[in-house]
Amino acid sequence: MTVISKNTNTANVVDVVIMAAGKGTRMKSKLPKVLHLLAGRALLQHVVDTAAELSARQVVVITGHGAIEVEAALAGDTGARAGFGINCVRQEPQLGTGHAVQQAVPLLGDDGIVVVLSGDVPLTRADTLMHLIAACGGNKLALLTIDFVDPAGYGRIVRQGQVVRAIVEQKDASPEQRAITEVYSGIMAAPARALKAWLARLGNQNAQGEYYLTDIVKFAVADGVPVVAHKITDACQVAGVNSPLQLAELERAYQKRVAVQLMEQGVRLADPARLDVRGVLQCGRDVSIDVNCVFEGQVSLGEGVKIGANCMIANATIAAGAVIHPFTHIEGGQPGTKDAIEVGAGARIGPFARLRPGAKLGSDVHIGNFVEVKNSTLAKGAKANHLAYLGDATVGERVNFGAGSITANYDGAFKHRTVIEADVHVGSNCVLIAPLTIGAGGTVGGGSTLTKDTPPGALSVARARQVSIANWKRPAK
Ligand code: UD1
Ligand code: CA
Repeated sequence: MTVISKNTNTANVVDVVIMAAGKGTRMKSKLPKVLHLLAGRALLQHVVDTAAELSARQVVVITGHGAIEVEAALAGDTGARAGFGINCVRQEPQLGTGHAVQQAVPLLGDDGIVVVLSGDVPLTRADTLMHLIAACGGNKLALLTIDFVDPAGYGRIVRQGQVVRAIVEQKDASPEQRAITEVYSGIMAAPARALKAWLARLGNQNAQGEYYLTDIVKFAVADGVPVVAHKITDACQVAGVNSPLQLAELERAYQKRVAVQLMEQGVRLADPARLDVRGVLQCGRDVSIDVNCVFEGQVSLGEGVKIGANCMIANATIAAGAVIHPFTHIEGGQPGTKDAIEVGAGARIGPFARLRPGAKLGSDVHIGNFVEVKNSTLAKGAKANHLAYLGDATVGERVNFGAGSITANYDGAFKHRTVIEADVHVGSNCVLIAPLTIGAGGTVGGGSTLTKDTPPGALSVARARQVSIANWKRPAK
């Protein structure tokens, strides 16, 4: 989402370790915590995406609880991480954060800087981590810290004067230490060689009987390695997800970021609190979006596009000047395939329209209420304004497809194509049984069921002739 400069300091090779072995009991879910979705993407994938923005040499993910599922999810995701190595290491059993990072040691070189992240902290900004890496500089231990009014539960940053001396966990802290409001975020950057040596010295003599990663601060101090704290104020960047409530709160925080970014580009949002972008939304100039719209996958809106309230739009390219009226559902398939959806310039879609995978609409096409279009091409100026189905159809320019008419594209085993050539007028309530071609300029009488191709320019009527019996007496009791 954010555009940042890449890591230009070539002296600092970065390896990222993401801890993701914890259980996440409070999610009360079968799904491993780090696979819960934020903006349509697993929490862990957000963290991997951030690592990609750092131009990391490699990412090591520590898995444990739900390891098989977590590793499968990483293997299946082809998002932002194209071009860098991702390795999973199991931590079994889970004996603490220090023990977690110890598992990564065999994969880490001595030359670089190791950035430690958590798989359940999805909203850290890459530029924040760039600052942390710069603060580490390859020879210092850099901690990301923050002041909390209520620091309960967090490791406290213990200073002597201004100098950081230790991180003390809540359960090991004295009453005076518990009063400290500066806490460790769980994110650090350390010189790899020193980190490895410190990890080898960790013990578990503490209140929780765990190997604390945070104990390395004491070792750094003892070794005379400077410890620097990079303190931030934006709490959502270090917020972890432990419960459905926290997940929902971070979802809102993420969506607010997206909304602000769009508005900075000039997009008019009726209400930035009522927008959901689960993927990438690209907007041209003078786009306006009414309330309660959801965008999924890759959606591109051209200049002047207007989106009405309550629309759901996935994987679609909507050209300049098109208007999508309220309650329209546009569900394109994989971006870059024939299943993605295209809506032409100046088209008018909805209200209550449904565009399914492979709908390709030319400029000035009109699709009205309760019209479904699937795997069909509609050329410039074609219209289907009411209650219709166009499936596996090729529709020519200026065709008018009447209310209640459908293409019968499926014979129970196979799908067949319907071709409706330019300037055809299909009346109301027609059934076009595919495969079928309606010749250019032809007219299909209302209520017809067509099974045979029709010649250009012809009127085709396929229904019983009307009979009127004079003076008809209805049955009487
Ligand atoms: C940790 C820090 C604490 C800091 C807090 C910030 C330690 C000892 N304490 O505490 O100073 O304020 O984070 O949130 O590091 N994990 C594993 N394997 C394990 C244990 C944990 O992979 O054996 C993972 C968890 O899945 C999680 C992350 O490490 O993603 C942090 O673990 P968590 O238990 O939340 O850390 P805290 O005890 O809260
Ligand atoms: Ca813990």
